[in-house]
Amino acid sequence: QPLTVINGPNLNLLGTREPEIYGHETLADIEAQCAETAREFGLTVDCFQSNSEGAIVDKLHSVRGSTAGIVLNAGAYTHTSVAIRDALANVPAPFIEVHISNVHAREAFRHHSYLSDVAAAVIVGCGSQGYEFAIRRLATLVGASRG
Ligand code: DQA
Repeated sequence: QPLTVINGPNLNLLGTREPEIYGHETLADIEAQCAETAREFGLTVDCFQSNSEGAIVDKLHSVRGSTAGIVLNAGAYTHTSVAIRDALANVPAPFIEVHISNVHAREAFRHHSYLSDVAAAVIVGCGSQGYEFAIRRLATLVGASRG
């Protein structure tokens, strides 16, 4: 089963969006890096991005039972969405919450996540490398070995 990489609102603008906070890599660069890292473990990735909360909920429903694990950067919905949290609770596979920036060093409203306590792990402040770390950790959790 593939891993699923889900990015939420505004992350389609990576590369041009506040590069001093989010870096210069584009979402396409990040998704390619995820695929490359997964390949080391004989895994594939299914990448998805949406600016809409409902579309992310629908995507989570669609991968129930058909993904080995999820990397999720829910963007600002991290701090607001009970709906995404509830959708995750219905996916048996582990998920890893990723934030490119160190949300704890930013505004107070970014310090709380509705997702962290149900995540297998949380990676913040590692830049786009956080996605790669998340893929490596999921490979460990699903028992995939280097090919
Ligand atoms: C983010 C942090 C969120 O607070 C913000 O709303 C984002 C990006 C990050 O990757 O650092 O959209 O999830």
